[in-house]
Amino acid sequence: MDHFNMKDGVLHAEDVSLAVIAAEVGTPVYVYSTATILRHVAVFRDALAAVQSTPDAPLIAFAVKANPNRAVLATLAERGLGADVVSGGELMRARAAGIPADKIVFSGVGKTAEEMRLGLTEGIFQFNVESEPEAEMLSQVAVTLGLKAPIAFRINPNVAAGTHAKIATGGAEDKFGVAFDRAIAAYRRAAELPGLDVRGVAVHIGSQLTDLGPSRAAFEKIGALIAQLRAAGHAIVTADLGGGLGVPYDPAQPIPPSPAAYGAMVAEVTRDWNLRLLFEPGRVIVGNAGILLSRVIRLKQGVANPFVIVDAAMNDLMRPSLYDAWHDIRAIAPSGAAMTADIVGPICESGDSFARKRSMDAVAPGDLVAFMTAGAYGATMANTYNSRALTPEVLVRGDQWAVVRERQPLEALITADRLPPWINDR
Ligand code: LLP
Repeated sequence: MDHFNMKDGVLHAEDVSLAVIAAEVGTPVYVYSTATILRHVAVFRDALAAVQSTPDAPLIAFAVKANPNRAVLATLAERGLGADVVSGGELMRARAAGIPADKIVFSGVGKTAEEMRLGLTEGIFQFNVESEPEAEMLSQVAVTLGLKAPIAFRINPNVAAGTHAKIATGGAEDKFGVAFDRAIAAYRRAAELPGLDVRGVAVHIGSQLTDLGPSRAAFEKIGALIAQLRAAGHAIVTADLGGGLGVPYDPAQPIPPSPAAYGAMVAEVTRDWNLRLLFEPGRVIVGNAGILLSRVIRLKQGVANPFVIVDAAMNDLMRPSLYDAWHDIRAIAPSGAAMTADIVGPICESGDSFARKRSMDAVAPGDLVAFMTAGAYGATMANTYNSRALTPEVLVRGDQWAVVRERQPLEALITADRLPPWINDR
């Protein structure tokens, strides 16, 4: 459920007309709904209420990569969420948004020594270590600082997540985690390293998961591994079950499992684990809390269908071109008429297409359209291809709204390049 609804014939974000935001901020612009974000936090938290692995409440560490806007992170921080970060930049953003270091988990296969130092000196909750060489390096860095790094190994359970290949992470051939069969040896070695406090396991098999089966299979394998590790003398006190729960994009597709169904599955599988659980949800918290608002530049007749050329492009919202992702496209002030069209951006490649042969609200040049469910992996993946400025972001709360990221001035794009001394600046 979201808080983007029609009022007096115009699509609103909560109590704010999207036409007003477009008029004042221009387009394209991302618009986020606070009420929707908070609703999803509450739904996810409630879904975990049945999880009773330990008396400690689970740590919900929002996957910052899904939406790193500081205002969004601060909204989540106010509700007590932690953060799952994958770079020094994300760690600094999470801290800048008021997320306490002891609620931050650091994932990722390529942490540098510098990023490790940052995590250690900040005093983060845990590093999710993805390989044995990374464990060696982290131990060395911790020793030089006179600290111990709390770690979990991320285990690659070798299960097929059943999602798009580019966002599946739990297969044996994927770059993520320590191979399941290597796990015991990896823990044995890590326990000997002076800079590590080995205390957990972690798993994350992919994103936009629409079937609980693979997650259940992965968690069951992790449960068996925890028992083996404990039998080998390791005190395993945390288990991070990652993120990945899918959200509905296309009403023609089956609805993904609800957070409640996910929570019930987790409760069942982890009943006897007796440790603190961590979760790293991203999309399920912010996905349908955001839209990309865009204006139709012109219509162009195609062979079969018209092209609707909008002022947003693949650089603003990469998901359709990268993953063939489906986003609902709605007119902000629908007339009631419908059309079938190809919706494309202005970028000079055919991949700059949002939808083909789409039945949608009829639109004309100058009309506003919304790409729905763009709150996760939208603005965060934007780039400046074709020298298009980064899209601004707006956060709505009730009848209030604020620009939470300015539109990047084109001058900033140009002056970021420097001329070498052998070319005269004109
Ligand atoms: N934890 C780890 C270790 C991850 O790699 C990810 C996502 C998450 C948590 C959060 O997953 P979520 O709950 O959001 O599914 N750009 C792609 C998605 C990439 C996901 C990468 N990792 C997309 O637009 O679909």
